[in-house]
Amino acid sequence: MRILILGADGYLGWPTCMYFSQRGHDVVGIDNYFRRNAAIALDCEPLLPTPNLIQRAKIWEKITGKRINIHVGDATNYAFLLKIFKEYKPDTVVHYAEQPSAPYSMINQEKAAFTLQNNLISTLNIVYAVKEANRDCHIIKLGTMGEYGTPNIDIEEGWLEINHKGKKDKFLFPRQASSLYHTTKIQDTDMLWFYVRTWGIRVTDLMQGPVYGISTDEADRDSQLVPNFHYDEVFGTVLNRFVVQAVANYPLTVYGKGGQIRGYLNLKDTMQCVYLSATQPVKNGELRIFNQVTETFSVNELADKVCAVGNKLGYNVNINHIENPRKEKEEHYYNPKYTGLLELGLKPNYLTDDELTGIFRKVEQYKDQINRDAIFRGIKWSAETLSGTA
Ligand SMILES: NC(=O)c1ccc[n+]([C@@H]2O[C@H](COP(=O)([O-])OP(=O)(O)OC[C@H]3O[C@@H](n4cnc5c(N)ncnc54)[C@H](O)[C@@H]3O)[C@@H](O)[C@H]2O)c1
Repeated sequence: MRILILGADGYLGWPTCMYFSQRGHDVVGIDNYFRRNAAIALDCEPLLPTPNLIQRAKIWEKITGKRINIHVGDATNYAFLLKIFKEYKPDTVVHYAEQPSAPYSMINQEKAAFTLQNNLISTLNIVYAVKEANRDCHIIKLGTMGEYGTPNIDIEEGWLEINHKGKKDKFLFPRQASSLYHTTKIQDTDMLWFYVRTWGIRVTDLMQGPVYGISTDEADRDSQLVPNFHYDEVFGTVLNRFVVQAVANYPLTVYGKGGQIRGYLNLKDTMQCVYLSATQPVKNGELRIFNQVTETFSVNELADKVCAVGNKLGYNVNINHIENPRKEKEEHYYNPKYTGLLELGLKPNYLTDDELTGIFRKVEQYKDQINRDAIFRGIKWSAETLSGTA
């Protein structure tokens, strides 16, 4: 298939480009380097050096003989995006090109406005480009489990049947985000559902949990093909951050009581989930929603795992329960359903000690590069703003 990957320079985007390319598909990757530039501006660059996207594609081609077409540009620029759609006529578009950080969206008004504008307009532009260039193109959109929040009822896979006063109907599962970033993901879902109903486009919306890991079969082929691995408070995900903290002898930053439970998945499983969704598309006029996680953990459970493996490897890992900068429940019910992707054929890579040891081993090689100042900045959900992050 011809596949267009928006946000191709990202943590998920670059490994996805290689994953599809390796399997014989024609891949086009787009990125505007927002994340690279924001990480420089906030002094929180990734741990491992990553060549720019054009260079990475060249290295990939040299190693495999397979070409990934790269265009540096902005998905919120409709003329640019439409030109790409018309030129390549993709069968599938994977939309990763968003501002992906909850803390970033909470820094100040400017970053909140950017997050809203960037995430919603990029999604709108894709819908319009699909309508104009190829109405059968399957949109695969990355949403987040954070759209649901932490309700006191089981979380279904996207939809909920409601019986009300003797009548029944099916609706999007109720959602209540805990950051502005997550709110934009809810708005994306609402917008996509509107256009699915109105124009009959086809969409798979993946409610993904926080991803961890650094390794995929393709990325492991050369040190210059690794994904960007963030461990800072702004762009890092929790497990990756804890491993770097352990290696840096920095007490693990557990927010508050640490009873916050979320669904997680390995980077390798993100590849599988997107691939399974792309190769088994939905029909026109359908919005399919999957909960893209493979297991659930509380923050305390993750910290305990990192302690156990880190101590076995000779580190002296400590846990620090710090004042929670976020506004969230620290003890709550959490029971999401996540069977749809398993039914499509997902074979999960669970968080074993060996898997965690592999992340430690990779991080250790770059131990001297760890910027301790980036680990915790204390970006607060309250009205205050941190100096140095504005
Ligand atoms: N990583 C996770 O744990 C996780 C979990 C749930 C959902 N997601 C979602 O998955 C997607 C990818 O996340 P990621 O972790 O790879 O983030 P990332 O920041 O590493 O990748 C996103 C990429 O999109 C690019 N981008 C942003 N806006 C753009 C625009 N307007 N035009 C072109 N490129 C643009 C950025 O430069 C970046 O390279 C995001 O939508 C994110 O919200 C990620």
